[in-house]
Amino acid sequence: MDAELVIAAAESVETPVAAVDVAAMETNLAAMQARAAGLRLRLRPHAKTHKSAFVARRQLEHGAIGLTAATLSEAEVFAAVGAGDLLIAFPPVGEMKLRRLAALAERVGRLAVSLDSVEVAAALPERVEVLWEVDSGHHRVGTAPGEATVAGVTALVAAIGEERFRGLLTFPGHAYAVADRAELARVAEAEHRVMLETAAQLRAAGIAVRELSVGSTPTAAWTEAGPTEMRPGSYVYGDVQQVVLGAMSLEECALGVVATVVSTPAPDRAVIDAGSKALAADARLSLLRGYGIVVGHQDLVLERMSEEHGMLVATGAQTRLRIGDRLLVIPAHCCTTVNLHPGVLMVEAGRAWWDPVAARGWQAAGAGTPPAGQASGGESLGRPSAIHLRDLRPSGGG
Ligand SMILES: Cc1ncc(COP(=O)(O)O)c(C=O)c1O
Repeated sequence: MDAELVIAAAESVETPVAAVDVAAMETNLAAMQARAAGLRLRLRPHAKTHKSAFVARRQLEHGAIGLTAATLSEAEVFAAVGAGDLLIAFPPVGEMKLRRLAALAERVGRLAVSLDSVEVAAALPERVEVLWEVDSGHHRVGTAPGEATVAGVTALVAAIGEERFRGLLTFPGHAYAVADRAELARVAEAEHRVMLETAAQLRAAGIAVRELSVGSTPTAAWTEAGPTEMRPGSYVYGDVQQVVLGAMSLEECALGVVATVVSTPAPDRAVIDAGSKALAADARLSLLRGYGIVVGHQDLVLERMSEEHGMLVATGAQTRLRIGDRLLVIPAHCCTTVNLHPGVLMVEAGRAWWDPVAARGWQAAGAGTPPAGQASGGESLGRPSAIHLRDLRPSGGG
């Protein structure tokens, strides 16, 4: 990332501001696409990292087969920019989500969700396909590999038919909790092994498995031929987690938050105007020190954050910072940092422009809140529409 260029481009913008070095982002998009192509795997990037219509379009233009989304709002925004093949990697539960899903299924050529329950699958609209989630060690959604998954998928196929069962999916999120690269390699190896073994068991039971969907940015380096598609997300921007895990270099990181020094209360401490409302506070790594890396100031640790304040502490005697200095902070976690900002400043040589983080939030357009894709603060906030609450009576009145 060209820190000088990004800080210069943000000169006329108030801080804190999230900014992307577009050239670095393009390099990341091309590199992951090449890696997938080399392995003959389809790339279905997880677009929740950026939640941006522009970046989604670039991923498709680079050759992504389609996109992964986590929410209906994301899927709707990506469908609107022409993504015709979407996977929502989250179980859609409840009448309202199912109605939105049915409407979405009419607008895209291929739509699938991932889940681990026949009950959830049975309620899906007809046109929606299913990927059954396998727990390869993250212990989030998913049945255990082997027998438990074979039993689940057998019941699934009986309930919705074999044509709508597309295959298996796993997410190795425990890759973020490893102690070193050797453990990371073991996570990636297990991710592939359990998927291939479980698929073989299903096939032996006479069930066709057309898709084996794997992936995360940290395990992408070990991804091998065998699965059919990979779903890295963070690779588009990178962050300190990826740097610490050895998955990306600091130079490859494309997103930073430009912040201003607002106080220097002690020689070894300075305060910036980026706290937990501008930089992610959910960093998942035990290996991580602080909430970000200040580019060009490796002697500073972003040790604490309150909502608007970020406390930088020098590992030496002095920060050498002055009030008014502007710094570029690479966040610990890019996905949750982006989600804090209504727009991201896209910086290219010679120009910068605002890219809305269009797919933030959960509500459907017209649900009485600003729809996904619209900046907040507009008319709909000034005059919120009433939401009728059925049979809701004050409690405790006897
Ligand atoms: C289901 C699923 N697939 C893929 C990803 C992408 O992972 P990463 O951001 O580590 O590349 C995520 C991220 O949380 C995920 O939840």
